[in-house]
Amino acid sequence: MTSASAQPDQASRALAVARSFGRRARDYTRHAHLQQHAAHGLADFLRENGGLPDGAVVEIGCGTGLLTELLHIQGRDYLATDLSPEMLDQCRARLGSPLDDRPGLSFAVLDGQTASFATPPAAIVTNLTCQWFVDPVAGIARLARQTQMLAFSVPLQGSFPEWEAAFAELGRSSGLLPLPDEQQILKALETLSPQRLTHRIEERQQHFPSAKAFADSFRLIGAEQPRQGYTPAPIRPVLKRFAHGLDATARILYALVMRELP
Ligand SMILES: C[S@@+](CC[C@H](N)C(=O)[O-])C[C@H]1O[C@@H](n2cnc3c(N)ncnc32)[C@H](O)[C@@H]1O
Repeated sequence: MTSASAQPDQASRALAVARSFGRRARDYTRHAHLQQHAAHGLADFLRENGGLPDGAVVEIGCGTGLLTELLHIQGRDYLATDLSPEMLDQCRARLGSPLDDRPGLSFAVLDGQTASFATPPAAIVTNLTCQWFVDPVAGIARLARQTQMLAFSVPLQGSFPEWEAAFAELGRSSGLLPLPDEQQILKALETLSPQRLTHRIEERQQHFPSAKAFADSFRLIGAEQPRQGYTPAPIRPVLKRFAHGLDATARILYALVMRELP
């Protein structure tokens, strides 16, 4: 496994993202409700579509192991990777020792947007991580080119419209990360001439008692890095608008791409 050198912008963004998640790694699992839900959603989607193939699996952006614990079965060669060493430490601590409790499981710090594999893994899996790539569409397609099976979930453009509408009324955009468009992702994957490309989109609504609780749902897991170019400014009208709570809708793409390697 190698990690190709990144462009300077990409490298500094990756460092900022890794630090941000690293700072919250200890408490991540307790607050990662959407990620927990999507990990189960992706594992179910994978099972409904035939499950993982035999052979080595690489997970990109494993965090504290919410998907890892659902997919790793004893003895399977499974490499859990993340950009953040602190996240990997928590993953190791939660899932137990590879030697005693989890034969076949290993860990590595890896940037999923630049990773390349000398021996292609039988499958690459990743849950709610590729949105952090500088170019999520290109990054997903790049991963798909390196394996016979890529199974992933990613939040989509059009998520959290309730929050975005409150900022639009102020004539501004929120600081939320710009998310990829499903048509662009599917088009990029179709150009790889896959043997199989299947997907499902879920709209998942979560209730938050206040605007602060919604913002905390990102902050407390380390996902508060704003979109590039965002300048924080007072948001009193937004706080007031959601004084009695907020139902925020995430759009999540689950997808499976299978292709023959050349
Ligand atoms: C929202 S968390 C999801 C973690 C885990 N997949 C889960 O479902 O709980 C995003 C994770 O991706 C990692 N990450 C962000 N950018 C990454 C990249 N370029 N390569 C690998 N991991 C990355 C972060 O460190 C963090 O652990």
